[in-house]
Amino acid sequence: MKPPKVVFVCQECGAQAPKWMGRCTDCGAWNSLVEERVGDPPAVAAATNRYAQLGAGGTAKLYADVDIADALRLSTGIGEFDRVLGGGVVPGSLVLLGGEPGIGKSTLLLQAAAHFARAAGPVLYASGEESEHQIKSRGDRLNVGEAPIYLLAETCIERILEEIARLKPALVIVDSVQTVFSIKFQSAPGSIGQVREAATQFLFAAKGQNIPTVLVGHVTKDGSLAGPKVLEHVVDTVLSFEGERHHAHRVVRAVKNRFGAVSELGVFEMTGVGLRPVPNPSMLFLSERASGTPGSAVLCCVEGSRPILVEVQALVSASTYGNPRRMAIGLDQNRLSLLLAVLEKRAGLNLAGDDVYVNIAGGMSVDEPAADLGVVAAVASSMRNRSLAGSTAVFGEVGLSGEIRGVPQAALRVREAVQMGFSRIVMPAANIDVRETAGEGDCELVGVRSVGEALDHLLT
Ligand code: TYD
Ligand code: MG
Repeated sequence: MKPPKVVFVCQECGAQAPKWMGRCTDCGAWNSLVEERVGDPPAVAAATNRYAQLGAGGTAKLYADVDIADALRLSTGIGEFDRVLGGGVVPGSLVLLGGEPGIGKSTLLLQAAAHFARAAGPVLYASGEESEHQIKSRGDRLNVGEAPIYLLAETCIERILEEIARLKPALVIVDSVQTVFSIKFQSAPGSIGQVREAATQFLFAAKGQNIPTVLVGHVTKDGSLAGPKVLEHVVDTVLSFEGERHHAHRVVRAVKNRFGAVSELGVFEMTGVGLRPVPNPSMLFLSERASGTPGSAVLCCVEGSRPILVEVQALVSASTYGNPRRMAIGLDQNRLSLLLAVLEKRAGLNLAGDDVYVNIAGGMSVDEPAADLGVVAAVASSMRNRSLAGSTAVFGEVGLSGEIRGVPQAALRVREAVQMGFSRIVMPAANIDVRETAGEGDCELVGVRSVGEALDHLLT
């Protein structure tokens, strides 16, 4: 008998090598090569042939003749989830939902499946992680009730595909792509070959039979999706499920979306009866704000197309050691250092001997430049021990020469702040012309040009 052919595959980039090496010569990752057995030649031949499935009836169509009606969307029945998908599930699309263990991926999908099954038809929920019993006992808490959901505790891709062909469901959920395996490969589930195979097989099933499919993906320690990058290229939409373990709220973010805007955001709260959509996140993030305390500023940020008000908290205290600490939670550390330098040099705040801690309350994280003015305001407020007026909100980018620069979607931010009852907004002078479009009502808009000017208006 011929010994089985063995290759070593990099788990980061998918490159193959004939022998083991400590470092992948393609992508440079260390210790990423894993031994995989190559299937028999007939299996490989079959594997190449199946690519033909996708191109059924493959004649070129004239742009004008393509029917847009095909691109209709199906609602999942959960408004916040539809929003991140760009308005609902597109038939035949392949969605990857990634997130840390225990964040609520299975919960969200089971809830969505229940709504979807009632409205659009049967759903197949294939789980390689839990038994039918476990899924059902969770479903009981989530009020799944009589919805036509077929449960399949199975890890073999070929078996799942058989069930898809038999049941012709309206939606397929595979929990998770790292636990399923194809009989064509000898390697263990979760290895790059298997993950890639799973993604390709489900892609063909989704496109070929026009059945939307959701794959659950695990994430690695550093928060990126486990498995090869190729997975992200194959699927139509990549959603990332985030949240702090110690907070009840969860955020679903679109990282890639062929059918909608990226960085679109859906906010949920984990309760005893599953995930509850939060239609008004500003209210959630500002609910525990103690207004009138120094070191707190309300910031209007925009995530995707959605404005959200968050509270920036800062604490400036005299440093006991020679080296002052600077710590940022929910914010880029380098951005904080930069802003502190601007405050020192351009606004005359002497922070050299102080520890500075900045936190975005409620476990949110913001990474847009428009957050700068909120950070600067909170730090200056804590430093001078003077509170900002409780009904003032801010936004604006801070430049290195201390100038306040205009930011995109200013009208959206103003409208959200007005809706949440803020009576004064300190914002970039360059954006002040939103007055005509934002409908600011009784709200006073203060346009500022420099950090110094902004602090004069904020700390009275
Ligand atoms: P789960 O969906 O199993 O996470 P994942 O599939 O991402 O690993 O969610 C599990 C967590 O959610 C678990 O820690 C318990 C919590 N939870 C609730 O708080 N309320 C609920 O109604 C449910 C079903 C789960
Ligand atoms: Mg799960």
